[in-house]
Amino acid sequence: MPEKLTLIEKYREHLPVTDKTPIVSLGEGGTPLVPAEHLPALLGVPKMRLFFKLEGLNPTGSFKDRGMTLAISKATEAGSRAVICASTGNTSASAAAFAGKAGLKCYVILPAGKVALGKVAQAILYGAKIVQVNGNFDQALQLVREVAEEYAITIVNSINPYRLEGQKTAAIEIVEKLGRAPDFVFIPVGNAGNISAYWRGFKLCQDSGMCQHRPRMFGFEAEGAAAIVKGAPISNPETIATAIRIGNPASWQEAVKAAHESNGQIDSVSDKEILYAYQLVAHQEGIFCEPSSAAAIAGLIKKVKAGLIPEQAFVTCVLTGNGLKDPDTAIKVGEKEIATIEPTLTKLKEAIEL
Ligand code: F0G
Repeated sequence: MPEKLTLIEKYREHLPVTDKTPIVSLGEGGTPLVPAEHLPALLGVPKMRLFFKLEGLNPTGSFKDRGMTLAISKATEAGSRAVICASTGNTSASAAAFAGKAGLKCYVILPAGKVALGKVAQAILYGAKIVQVNGNFDQALQLVREVAEEYAITIVNSINPYRLEGQKTAAIEIVEKLGRAPDFVFIPVGNAGNISAYWRGFKLCQDSGMCQHRPRMFGFEAEGAAAIVKGAPISNPETIATAIRIGNPASWQEAVKAAHESNGQIDSVSDKEILYAYQLVAHQEGIFCEPSSAAAIAGLIKKVKAGLIPEQAFVTCVLTGNGLKDPDTAIKVGEKEIATIEPTLTKLKEAIEL
């Protein structure tokens, strides 16, 4: 059986690599594009062609792996010995895994108490040096920028140009799978890198003749962290969707440009809307995504209600991270429904209402 190509090998012609670039891969990319079964009818647009891009099926459970394979490969090529990132969790897990494989030291700076359990577990086990700051992601990223100015450490946040180049491959995969571009893309926005990367990817597809048109890009911040929507940085961002708890997105301008050029929008959704979408997609479609990823679905619901989505539109929701990363939130929303019984048949029958 032929070996599966790495992401970098597959999209080599579109990526800033040469034959000399050592490839550090964990089998990233090639994630499923799964059609929705029940949501279109439930939302009142039964003919909508809705697909979920399951980025939580990447090796460390989020889309970050697409950019990280490139960032770490290029850091290795450049002779870097250490990498560093600030993170709301997923970047740290991905950086730690790829750096570990490449034999690089990895430092991760996290906002204390605000990172989902599974992501901290990953960073620990992949062997990163972890520091928590009593502050938010934006402060952590500022510190990372400062320390990297003084020391020879490569930043692997999405301000590293290779990160977005790698992440744009997800858009290419969508076009390859559908044989066309979607009409609409719904995607969560935190540091605003991913929406920018997708837009690059879709533009590339159109420019290279892989598709005729480009989608409208709709990005969603969490209401308590909606700096772009409000038009000013937020010093104390707050949301249940901790992955996008960011008050001063680094790729702000490029994300605004993506929304503008594509005739889309950066909008926000509330924690309540996020939690509703989070449970709905799990119940109805069998997809366990992170709360932050559910912001994309909450955004879709909002735009369907606003009458924005035509009957037969092709729509893709980017589900950026695996729900298993944040077991606390899942348990919090459903724990009260778990019955605990004595181990007897009678009690069991009562409990399952037979
Ligand atoms: N969804 C998930 C699951 C994320 O982890 C992130 C960002 C986003 C969406 C937003 O993507 O930042 O490119 O707009 N997580 C970063 C991190 C900030 O540190 O893991 P973005």
